[in-house]
Amino acid sequence: MNNDILKKIIEYGTQAPSGDNSQPWVFTIINDDIIGLYNVPCRDNPILNVHEGGSLVSHGAVILNIRIASEYFGYKADISYFPDILDENLVAKITFNKNEKGLSTYEEGLFDSIYKRCTNRKHYSKDLSVSIKSEFDKIDGFDGIKVKLFYNEKDKNFISSIICLSEEIILKTKELHNLLFGDVAWSKKEESTKKHGLYVKTLEFNPVQFFVFWLCRKWKNISFLNKKINFAHIVGEQNSDIYRSSGIIGLIIIPDVTNITYVKAGEILQYIWLKSTNLGLGFQPVTGLFFLNERIKIFGNDPISRENSKIINDGYNTLKDFIRVSDTDTILTSFRIGVSKKTSARSSRLEPNIILK
Ligand SMILES: Cc1cc2nc3c(=O)[nH]c(=O)nc-3n(C[C@H](O)[C@H](O)[C@H](O)COP(=O)(O)O)c2cc1C
Repeated sequence: MNNDILKKIIEYGTQAPSGDNSQPWVFTIINDDIIGLYNVPCRDNPILNVHEGGSLVSHGAVILNIRIASEYFGYKADISYFPDILDENLVAKITFNKNEKGLSTYEEGLFDSIYKRCTNRKHYSKDLSVSIKSEFDKIDGFDGIKVKLFYNEKDKNFISSIICLSEEIILKTKELHNLLFGDVAWSKKEESTKKHGLYVKTLEFNPVQFFVFWLCRKWKNISFLNKKINFAHIVGEQNSDIYRSSGIIGLIIIPDVTNITYVKAGEILQYIWLKSTNLGLGFQPVTGLFFLNERIKIFGNDPISRENSKIINDGYNTLKDFIRVSDTDTILTSFRIGVSKKTSARSSRLEPNIILK
């Protein structure tokens, strides 16, 4: 395969989303037609990224981008997931074969959506046309991974009131607060130099909210506000309002918590995201509750207080009962979709890190 095409396909891959724009990936060129996709452990938030789950979801998004871009450039990408049992950071070996028959797997417009896709944290409008809803109703899971979509006001209000709980708890927990604020890029200049981390302009604050957020970068300020006015709860309620403004709230449900399932669920998440972009809609994943719940399940309360861990766990279980999935299923994430204005800013990407083997 031509080197320039290979580099282009990798660049398309790295337009994938990742937790706090951590971009936890490295590529190796194994030969002209085969590349390795590696996870870089601990790049993403060490408290929320339980079992590297968030990073592996991002790798799923990289893989889907690579599949779509390969097809555009006349190749088919064959994926071998976790091919080396001795190296769990090797997420996939990807072999490119000429697409002799020119068969296309993906609908038109998904390729163009790879660079257009971004996280949209604005308010959305609730109304979606029947034809748009029917586009989303065509989405199917695979390998036991399910996608559930909620359009009805009552359901959306209920789910919103639960998925916002994690934001409240994050702002009440010193360690989580420090990680959140430690990764913020505060200006366009800082973001375009660093090219990773959470860019404050993408958080869509008005000037007053921006000022309060800036004050809250110091734990002593936010803990004062929490004591005086239950500030974290106010933020949670505001986020709940934003979430309930959506046309669709969706959930991705996985049958087991394994590396390969995380990656495949990431492919589905990215497919829905690209499809939303292609239809001109806004999209935001809302993952905190689910990763926090997984963390508490595996590692216990620390660093979250017992009381707040219970709020997360009860919220998660209430949601699970509400959507009536089997006991062995796990809700991986929620997301929201809707008609929205363009985002105020976009996050940058680092140059892909490609190592010649
Ligand atoms: C696993 C994962 C978890 C994420 N969780 C959230 C979240 O809870 N809330 C949110 O607003 N964005 C979330 N994001 C979006 C990232 O912050 C975003 O992808 C990253 O900052 C890059 O920006 P972009 O998507 O606009 O390119 C998540 C993304 C991934 C892949």
